[in-house]
Amino acid sequence: MDSDKLKVRIKLFRDKKSFEVEYIYKKKSLNERPMVLDVLLQAQEEKIDDLSFRYGCRARNCGVCTVDINGKPRLACRARVKDDDLISPISTLPVIKDLIVKRDGIPRQMIGYNRIPFKNNLNVEAESSYHNLTACIECYACLDGCPLHKKNNLEVKNNDAYSYGNPFSFLKLQRLYIDPLTPEEEKKGIIEKAKSLGLETYKKEYKNLKIKCGVGINLKDEVIKPLLNAAFSYQNEKKNK
Ligand code: SF4
Ligand code: FES
Repeated sequence: MDSDKLKVRIKLFRDKKSFEVEYIYKKKSLNERPMVLDVLLQAQEEKIDDLSFRYGCRARNCGVCTVDINGKPRLACRARVKDDDLISPISTLPVIKDLIVKRDGIPRQMIGYNRIPFKNNLNVEAESSYHNLTACIECYACLDGCPLHKKNNLEVKNNDAYSYGNPFSFLKLQRLYIDPLTPEEEKKGIIEKAKSLGLETYKKEYKNLKIKCGVGINLKDEVIKPLLNAAFSYQNEKKNK
């Protein structure tokens, strides 16, 4: 391939069929190392005018542009393209059209679980882990490799929530759990919710758990481990006696 061009394959999904199209990206300069989103925008402009994909901030803030690159989830606005890359919709959620997936089964898991009473207090102290967790941009890259999300029937009826959790939903629960505004009496309910989403599976698979956050949050140490400790530590203590 000429050095002023890049060849990519884009997986499209239409009329219940998926198929690949090839697109040759024309670089704006010889040194350009385009992002996936640059390629998609040019492909839409030059060749596939009805190409469907999502993007918002173009700056790693909104989390809606996630696609798979060679089978792994990446933010389209931050991942650079290499020759012959395959761009496809994330494999962990149902496809609506082309690169657009149905996302609402995930946030629906959290409906009704933020029962922190309103307080006009913005200066309340929170541990640093809480602030780390606020970096989540809801990109859903962490669904990849999650043994719990794998168990979900993605074709849920009536826009229901998925039955099993995922690192994102547990991050939301853990953040709520350590939020200094969460009253003590709510914490038991948060742990029960985590258990109802299948938290125990992580206990069995913790060692081999390969989950990766799109923005670098340490999901195993800052989300799964503390939740497991809060939910099951008494059992481990019992065993160790
Ligand atoms: S935890 Fe990380 S990978 Fe998962 S949704 Fe949030 S930012 Fe994306
Ligand atoms: S467009 Fe907002 S994170 Fe990529």
